[in-house]
Amino acid sequence: MSSTLTVDLGDRSYPIVIGRGLLDGNFDLNAFVRGSDCLVVSNETVAPLYYEKLCANLAGCGVNGINLPDGESFKTIATMRSILDRLVELRANRDIAVIALGGGVVGDIAGFAAACYMRGVDFIQVPTTLLAQVDSSVGGKTGVNHAQGKNLIGAFHQPRVVLIDTNTLDTLPDRELAAGLAEVIKYGAICDAEFFAWLEANMTNLLARDPDALEQAIRRSCELKAEVVAEDEREAGRRAILNFGHTFGHAIEHCHGYGEWLHGEAVAAGMIMAARLSGLPADDVDRLAALVAAAGLPTEPPAIAADAWLDAMGMDKKVQAKQLRFVLLDAIGESRVSSEYDGSRLNEILRG
Ligand SMILES: NC(=O)c1ccc[n+]([C@@H]2O[C@H](COP(=O)([O-])OP(=O)(O)OC[C@H]3O[C@@H](n4cnc5c(N)ncnc54)[C@H](O)[C@@H]3O)[C@@H](O)[C@H]2O)c1
Repeated sequence: MSSTLTVDLGDRSYPIVIGRGLLDGNFDLNAFVRGSDCLVVSNETVAPLYYEKLCANLAGCGVNGINLPDGESFKTIATMRSILDRLVELRANRDIAVIALGGGVVGDIAGFAAACYMRGVDFIQVPTTLLAQVDSSVGGKTGVNHAQGKNLIGAFHQPRVVLIDTNTLDTLPDRELAAGLAEVIKYGAICDAEFFAWLEANMTNLLARDPDALEQAIRRSCELKAEVVAEDEREAGRRAILNFGHTFGHAIEHCHGYGEWLHGEAVAAGMIMAARLSGLPADDVDRLAALVAAAGLPTEPPAIAADAWLDAMGMDKKVQAKQLRFVLLDAIGESRVSSEYDGSRLNEILRG
């Protein structure tokens, strides 16, 4: 059984197919490969688990592979270049399809390589972490980190299809599952109070990997993301709400070395900081903190000096009020992007 959603972007619209066991031959991936060849980009952890299965779904075309080193610290231009080198070595034509098999790191790097090679070739997402299934594989943001900041180099490049086999979560470590739940909680917090309440009622089932609960959470998250992306593909406005908790979260990742705090963990602590900055009633901040804690995620950031926070958030003290924009909550399920915030409250939050 599978269900399909559509990201509605005119002639760049694409399906998100969600189901159990899709990689066990229950989906015709060949239909999305236009040419005769594809390059599967994976990593040293995921490829031994799922590469062969994926290949069995690509019997109609010539399959090539490349495995990247595993980890956020390898989300660099150098790693992306290794994919470009492989494409050149294969003498790949414009009709090659680049297929990302892995988590958000593999997806972001592979998507960026697909956006750059010959000014853009087809890209397919087969996400295998919860975070990638609910967030990074949908919406077309691709890119790599720079030593000076996260995701500083990249491109918008939408996939042709997103294939979510929820069975791949069976092998995902608990800590990574929890990190993905941070982004799931984010959707409830920014735009769906009912979903937030559903998460409160179902967190135990999600952590126990109840397949129905997981599928429901993934489907609702993808629906919400698809809706926001369809409205504002290039983040000229509303799409920025998806960055709730990320200004603080990216600063945590930057200050603590990529990979030390997982992206989802940094976002979790960042969401609570952003909720406090929003001036939400204490009861609502407590609700968010309780849900984050129930997911096994950190509710407090690590110790970072206030100056380092400001620097990592892209501002120095003199220009702070003018430049920084935060995603703030008006209530659970309602958010806005604003550069108007209480500076003294921000300082208090940063000082811990
Ligand atoms: N493009 C976007 O819109 C967007 C949105 C959110 C996050 N991101 C990016 O996504 C990245 C984080 O993604 P992530 O949390 O998936 O991390 P990740 O890609 O590093 O994957 C986490 C770990 O799980 C392993 N793994 C993946 N699938 C597995 C499986 N099925 N079984 C066992 N192990 C598995 C990976 O090898 C890795 O060690 C960050 O770089 C973040 O910036 C991008």
